[in-house]
Amino acid sequence: MIEVRNLTKIFNRGKFNETAAVVDVSLKVKDRSIVALTGPSGCGKTTLLSMIGLILTPTSGEILYDGENVLLASDFWRTMFRRQSFGFIFQHINLLPQYTTLENILLPLYSSDVDPWEYEGKAREWLSRLGIADRAEHLVEQLSGGEQQRAAFVRALIKDPKYVFADEPTVFVDEETSRIIYKVFSSLRDSGKTVLLSTHDPELMKIADETYRFCKGRLV
Ligand SMILES: Nc1ncnc2c1ncn2[C@@H]1O[C@H](COP(=O)(O)OP(=O)(O)OP(=O)(O)O)[C@@H](O)[C@H]1O
Ligand SMILES: [Mg+2]
Repeated sequence: MIEVRNLTKIFNRGKFNETAAVVDVSLKVKDRSIVALTGPSGCGKTTLLSMIGLILTPTSGEILYDGENVLLASDFWRTMFRRQSFGFIFQHINLLPQYTTLENILLPLYSSDVDPWEYEGKAREWLSRLGIADRAEHLVEQLSGGEQQRAAFVRALIKDPKYVFADEPTVFVDEETSRIIYKVFSSLRDSGKTVLLSTHDPELMKIADETYRFCKGRLV
């Protein structure tokens, strides 16, 4: 279970452009569930996801994973935890355009203690589940936006992370791909994973166990 307590993020504190992106947010994310964050553009969804995913440090508040306040742990511990347990599908974490789809999926595994090529079979399996098996050897710069989004999915899921973070995962894809993505999230939940996502997509909210709505950084 993830528990967020009184989380706040203020950008550019004390300056003319100070922005309270997330204000005093408390929420819980149960294991084996899909939780959606929604609300108008600029309401703080990406900021909140980034903090819970431990890639952005909060201004104040607590984030507990299974009861442990991970903000009190060392940077090293957090990095290891993130590497072992998290998968990110974020638009700003881009694929490398000059590498193939398969290389994009496997190369990040060099940072873990595994031989990336041991994961080749699994990568191809995922690619075919997502309908882009025939794009494995193509350069990413030659893929469509929706194909790149699916490649990013495989890259995030290849190591079977317990927690999956997805920032507007269906925003650039067609209806058919969206349906594939709903199925992927549902099957992740069925296999014991926890999915935390942000979205404006009402169909995606339908498969969520819980939806939290935000306005100007606050939970409403
Ligand atoms: N690095 C940053 N520095 C300064 N301000 C930021 C930064 N990142 C986000 N903000 C501001 O914080 C607020 C929340 O941004 P955030 O990206 O979390 O919104 P969002 O809900 O994800 O919006 P969208 O639906 O458009 O993706 C916005 O007002 C934004 O301008
Ligand atoms: Mg956003």
